[in-house]
Amino acid sequence: MNFHQEHQASPPGTVYDNATQVQQAPQTVPLHGAEFATDPNAFYDYLRQFGPSGPVELSPGLEATLVTDYAAALHVLQNPDVFARDSRRWRALSEGRVPEDSPVLPMMMYRPNSMFSDGPEHLRLRQAVTDSLAKIDMHRVSRNVERLAAYLIDQFSGRGKADLITDYAQLLPLLIFNDLFGCPAEIGDRLIFGFSGLFDGVDAERANEVLTESLFELVALKRAQPGEDVTTWLMQHQVGLTDEEMIHQLVLLIGAGAEPMQNIIASSLRLLLSDDKYAGGHHSAGLLVEDAINDVLWNSPPIANYAVHYPVYDVDLAGSKLSAGSPVVISFAAANSDPSLSASRQTLSKRAHLAWGAGPHACPAKDPALLISVLAIEKLLNSLPDIELGVHADSLTWRPGPFHRALNALPARFTPVRLERRAPSPFPGDGRSAGNAPSQDPRGKGQKGSWWSGFLTWWKV
Ligand code: HEM
Repeated sequence: MNFHQEHQASPPGTVYDNATQVQQAPQTVPLHGAEFATDPNAFYDYLRQFGPSGPVELSPGLEATLVTDYAAALHVLQNPDVFARDSRRWRALSEGRVPEDSPVLPMMMYRPNSMFSDGPEHLRLRQAVTDSLAKIDMHRVSRNVERLAAYLIDQFSGRGKADLITDYAQLLPLLIFNDLFGCPAEIGDRLIFGFSGLFDGVDAERANEVLTESLFELVALKRAQPGEDVTTWLMQHQVGLTDEEMIHQLVLLIGAGAEPMQNIIASSLRLLLSDDKYAGGHHSAGLLVEDAINDVLWNSPPIANYAVHYPVYDVDLAGSKLSAGSPVVISFAAANSDPSLSASRQTLSKRAHLAWGAGPHACPAKDPALLISVLAIEKLLNSLPDIELGVHADSLTWRPGPFHRALNALPARFTPVRLERRAPSPFPGDGRSAGNAPSQDPRGKGQKGSWWSGFLTWWKV
């Protein structure tokens, strides 16, 4: 029995008055745990009975309001004077009522970057980000996605099987960012170690240390030797970012970019390889790939619930009472499937979904993100034309967590490819291929896990 069948009448948190057997209103609906990850739509459908927003728990003991209604979500996103982003306004946190060990705190804590700032400070930081991203040469991005994708595919194509997440979708965006942000080999390897460690949650403290240290080195390097890259453009921007501000914008850009990129590539591949509409992945023409990506943006947006707002005073949101300083989270996923939207929304108004956010904080990297996703998927399908899922699509599982829509793994099989010259393994000396990756070395100095230097060496050969 799924959540919907089981809980439509008695949702989790339902309390019965012993004397009268009258059902009391549920306290909160948990967005953490395996049940939510298995069938999030059942939770969104249930929450709609509360009106445009409903009470949720993001992690045990951490309560918030989730906006599920499309029009209400747009209203919140587009009214920054009433709904602020600076989480220093979060009352429960400042009053010590938030569990200190909550796993979602790092995603909600204030940092001096464009996502957590409002008003003139947001304009200043956002200007530096958008102007720098606007300088990206899309032809160069295309060429480099092609090369980086070829390098990764080369690592596993001889095996006849791969996990398209760990072997491909997770690494590709990080390698692309290394290129866009102008990372030399050794710093790039450590950035990949740091970000992968944070996403995997394995030794996150060490990963964070390596990440911060390598970003400081990157900033120092670019101050001394500017280049044609996003780091240099951010640094040279007229708003004059300090080194500390530089680190925070870089963490945001790479962090906000890599995880959804991984998930859009993986979720679109899942559709292309399993859904009859997409002919099981055997037609890799551009339109079909773009259709699958659009399908994911509407129906499984990689950032499912986020954009945490704090009302600056007590507000009535179409009948829902929201108190000042309480976290109000936008469900991009629920808003996209709002029953009040027309059934043909997906074909008639392709871009009306909220997967990129909306308002002053909308994703500034939509165009490069779309280009990279299309090219990454096309390259894989063209290189391995008979690729198919290695397991039944129904057996695929999703990572728990309130914010992302992310597959755990995406096993695939294909006819092994024999290459005359295979790319050198990033695990020198052990003769393994990438998919059997041993634990990565945090120093990344030409040691195991040296993905970026491995690619640079391969590319120069
Ligand atoms: C499929 C890929 C992506 C999706 C679905 C996505 C989605 C989003 C969404 C929904 C927001 C709004 C969050 C909010 O309102 O708090 C956002 C913001 C942002 N995204 Fe993306 N994003 C993607 C890729 C990227 C990439 C590749 C980058 C960077 C290179 C990036 C950088 C950012 C930044 C910096 C913000 C914050 C902007 C601000 O607060 O002013 N995103 N993204």
